Amino acid sequence: MTSHLLGPSQVLELYSIVCTAGSCVYHVMSDDSLNRGVRLRRDAHDRIDCPMSHLTYQTDPSWAQTALRDIPSLLADHKVCEEKATLTAQSIIRKWAGKYPILEPEMKTLAREENAHGILVARKQTEFGSIAPPPRQHPYARALRDVVAQGGGTLLDLLLASSLIEARSCERFVLLAEASRGSSLAGFYEDFIAAEARHHAMFVRMAQECFGEKAALIRLRRLAVIEAKIVQALPRLSRIH
Ligand SMILES: [Fe+2]
Ligand SMILES: [Fe+2]
Repeated sequence: MTSHLLGPSQVLELYSIVCTAGSCVYHVMSDDSLNRGVRLRRDAHDRIDCPMSHLTYQTDPSWAQTALRDIPSLLADHKVCEEKATLTAQSIIRKWAGKYPILEPEMKTLAREENAHGILVARKQTEFGSIAPPPRQHPYARALRDVVAQGGGTLLDLLLASSLIEARSCERFVLLAEASRGSSLAGFYEDFIAAEARHHAMFVRMAQECFGEKAALIRLRRLAVIEAKIVQALPRLSRIH
């Protein structure tokens, strides 16, 4: 196992700039040298083209208008996403933490946070109406899972695919927060942005720790191109992805 500690500039780059939405830019930056805390700053003046570290396709902001047409469905899908994220973290512990002990504390924290996110979504559902969750076979997640399987189901691909899902979720929350400004949903979606950006960075960091920085980033770039093709082919629905 190799270990690569990130220097301050790399940490900043990982958190980098989350997304542009309308005239606003969200900056998510590491808050301390341990790469644990993040802070979110919304800047109404700057514009930066890079939507999120490592994503190679930027969602059109008009996507959020479509997604918000059916808020109960959007929340139901969001809840499933948080539940799946919890299950993924728990499954990584079961399957891989024996060989890569560094994963266990990170995945435990992740599972706890994703579970808390699910509770937040469930609370919001009481406000906007709770409907049956969508089919658990989600096209976006399924396509990425297929990519991981085609690559042999390696831990490297699993960590990196998970990092891209977190990044895409983060990007979508920014767009949803902007599109719902003026309603209680804006603050609700804003509350997820920093956490999902941190989760993205954590997965990338774990891939680097377990497989080396160079191998992880080369594979991440390849998977990001594939993820971009997948996400562009999805129909626009009231879903997070
Ligand atoms: Fe989450
Ligand atoms: Fe997350």
